[in-house]
Amino acid sequence: MNVILFIVCVLFYKPSMQYSGSILQIGDVTVEVGDDVTFHCFHPKDQMNRVMWFKQTLGEKPAFVASSYHWSQDSVLHDEFEKTKRFKVNPGLGSFNLTIERTVQSDSATYYCAGSFSNIVYFGAGTNLVLRGERLTFGLTLSVINHILQP
Ligand SMILES: *[C@@H]1O[C@H](CO)[C@@H](O)[C@H](O)[C@H]1NC(C)=O
Repeated sequence: MNVILFIVCVLFYKPSMQYSGSILQIGDVTVEVGDDVTFHCFHPKDQMNRVMWFKQTLGEKPAFVASSYHWSQDSVLHDEFEKTKRFKVNPGLGSFNLTIERTVQSDSATYYCAGSFSNIVYFGAGTNLVLRGERLTFGLTLSVINHILQP
């Protein structure tokens, strides 16, 4: 009897599922203000419940940009990221890319892709978005206008 129970236990024993993959984000990105930019995120496709993007600006708490339930592939943009209409997410099997259209200076930040599995959230290494152009052009334009108005 005990032997049968033992065999049944061995046959049906499964080690508790463990997360074995990682969230992969590649490099940093520098673009001109006004350009579109896409951040790529790869995740273990059969292990994720939910994938997410966060925006982290220095000295501020992370902002929740977007999320997608892996199996349904329905995605949601949150709060101001929905309102601007400049943020787009593209969920697929094993990837969750974030696009920002017509970048503005305040988009410069670190963007983290994250995935949840068994109620634990795993983060990617983060992608820094560096924007070039606006401040210089804007400053020059202002000083030119000032010179014209106040010779
Ligand atoms: C996300 O970007 C990567 C790299 O360009 C691409 O291979 C992948 O297919 C993209 N994912 C989707 C869902 O478009």
